[in-house]
Amino acid sequence: MSKLILAIESSCDETACAISKDGREILADIVYSQADMHALYGGVVPEIASRKHIEKVSLVAEQACRQAGVALSQLDAAAATCAPGLIGALLVGANFAKAAALALDIPFVPVHHIRGHVAANYVAFPSLEPPMTALVASGGHTVILDVSDYTRMEVLATTRDDAAGEAFDKIARMMGLPYPGGASLDRLSQTGDPARYPLPRAGIRDSLDFSFSGLKTAAVNLIHNAGQKKQEIVAADLAAAVSHAVADTVAPRVIEAARLRGRKRVAAAGGVAANSTLRAALQRECEKAGLELYLPPLKLCGDNGSMIACQAYYELLAGHVGRPDQNCFATMPASEQLCFFDNEA
Ligand code: KG4
Ligand code: ZN
Repeated sequence: MSKLILAIESSCDETACAISKDGREILADIVYSQADMHALYGGVVPEIASRKHIEKVSLVAEQACRQAGVALSQLDAAAATCAPGLIGALLVGANFAKAAALALDIPFVPVHHIRGHVAANYVAFPSLEPPMTALVASGGHTVILDVSDYTRMEVLATTRDDAAGEAFDKIARMMGLPYPGGASLDRLSQTGDPARYPLPRAGIRDSLDFSFSGLKTAAVNLIHNAGQKKQEIVAADLAAAVSHAVADTVAPRVIEAARLRGRKRVAAAGGVAANSTLRAALQRECEKAGLELYLPPLKLCGDNGSMIACQAYYELLAGHVGRPDQNCFATMPASEQLCFFDNEA
């Protein structure tokens, strides 16, 4: 029997809803982006995000059902991102999905946002299956996961300070680029010379962990110093230098993680996986190491409902069903189970 799952994603500034059929077939994908509103403040304002989610959540769900041609009575489960993310924002989506599950007498499936990002690859590549090494690089996270199964993963590396996306966004803001900065910086970097501004590639001894705060400080100092000396910064060159510094740090660690666990497949996801320099570096390094690389299309890299609807299917198959008192969590490693109990043997 095929399974239809309606899933809500509201962990940050996108109110998204998707409907999946047996996980990978996406029947509807609706996103309401709040980016324009947060652009006024140069970053996401959590309270505004929560309020906008409340305004839009039923609307995106209704639109998704209409797009899919699915009646509420046909749904087999309702799912929502429950961690990690902005707590007020998460609670809106989770409470909506819990209420829908209760009203329709169907299971509620809590989904981990990072696991959802990994699942964007299952949507994009129908024959991809774990085990594999996964990189999730976004505004809030930079992690390398050993994915042994759809709902079993181990964190092999994480950032000790800022996420890669956070570094991109802060540097872009200092450069006066429009919010959200990562994508603008990427576009600008296309014509830049990465060698003009030498930037650090931070490493941590005996660890695959990342650190991006030094890169951020170095770029910000460079901009300040130039300002004090009334010198012009060549924006395209700085953008290229930053992109290369991130790619040079991330790509080799992903390859090393795959080698350590003997994995043959590498999948990337998260908003930063849209970065053209990082994509090229992963392609180059994976080819050299003889690894299969999976890079989802750009629209599946950033936050979306499809990835949550897909992961929800695998969580449901594993018996990871939430109770009505399921809570949300601002932080939680992707290796942990979200629900209070599970029905696994
Ligand atoms: O996955 P995502 O949409 O949301 C989070 O879960 O955080 O990632 C958003 C992040 C932002 O920091 C954004 O600037 C960055 O992804 N980003 C990029 C690019 N597109 C989005 N960073 C670098 N290059 C890009 N092309
Ligand atoms: Zn995300």
